[in-house]
Amino acid sequence: HNVHIIGAATAFGQPRLGVDFGPDALRYAGLIQTLKKLGLSVTDKGNIRGNFKVEAGRHSIKNDDNLLNYDAVKDFNTVLAGSVDASVSNGHFPLVLGGDHSLSIGSLAGISRHYDNLGVIWYDAHGDLNDSRTSPSGNIHGMPLGISCGLGDAALVNLYDEGPKVKPENIVLVGMRDLDEGEKEYIRDNGILTFTMTDIRSKGIDTVMKEALDHLAGKCDGIHLSLDVDGLDPMETPGTGTPVEGGLSLSETQLAMSILNHSNQITSMDLVEVNPLLDDRNKTAEKAVEIAAFLFGKKQL
Ligand code: ARG
Ligand code: MN
Ligand code: MN
Ligand code: MN
Repeated sequence: HNVHIIGAATAFGQPRLGVDFGPDALRYAGLIQTLKKLGLSVTDKGNIRGNFKVEAGRHSIKNDDNLLNYDAVKDFNTVLAGSVDASVSNGHFPLVLGGDHSLSIGSLAGISRHYDNLGVIWYDAHGDLNDSRTSPSGNIHGMPLGISCGLGDAALVNLYDEGPKVKPENIVLVGMRDLDEGEKEYIRDNGILTFTMTDIRSKGIDTVMKEALDHLAGKCDGIHLSLDVDGLDPMETPGTGTPVEGGLSLSETQLAMSILNHSNQITSMDLVEVNPLLDDRNKTAEKAVEIAAFLFGKKQL
């Protein structure tokens, strides 16, 4: 592997500032040295900041569809998709650092053109399957997986490439515990394989991850892992904008990442929603680095 680090320094997908410092918080927590110590070759492509102008009031505009920072999200993700596409084209593993989860619109747009059937594991408290009608907030970070499936705003659905980027049958949701009504309906209507926290408590994270991989094995020619740090419990990762009680522990997440590592199926990753301004001495970024390390083969012994 040559890992390409792409900093997606966006806060446009939600209202809380500081998540755009997530990529640098992850670097300061030692991400690159940690991956190099595992024997990986790592290239840091730096940050994409888009057209970020807090002082110009750009971080507060809603469009006619109630979508927050619509133009900024669209522009940012178009640039991000190009960078991710270039990395995959050259045979590298893109590790996209967030930044709020709206960045997955761009990362999936840049990645999916390289696969016939891209699998997606969405490790998160949330489904991020809203559109402007079902969203309680208008925050686009609650919509990237829906948009990637073809739901909602046409310009976002067709961003970078015409049409949907991901098929619902190639998605697995892990860690769910805060789904909006419209998201539940979309999951049911499309038969998306979903593991709630209740499922995880009942089966164990090891069984859940094996079932997730079994579901995608055979039909998918690559698997993208989109990991939102709010999938973990807020006691573990307090530095995030939409924390939800009752989440996964760090040790469960390490085990989940080890299982993915051993499968040799993961071809790209987003590591998102790290907000150092909401954090306790950068501990959320430190745990996120540990999670990435386990995905790339770190072991406890
Ligand atoms: N479901 C809520 C919404 O759509 C919260 C989404 C949180 N998403 C995230 N990536 N943290 O507003
Ligand atoms: Mn290409
Ligand atoms: Mn989330
Ligand atoms: Mn999310």
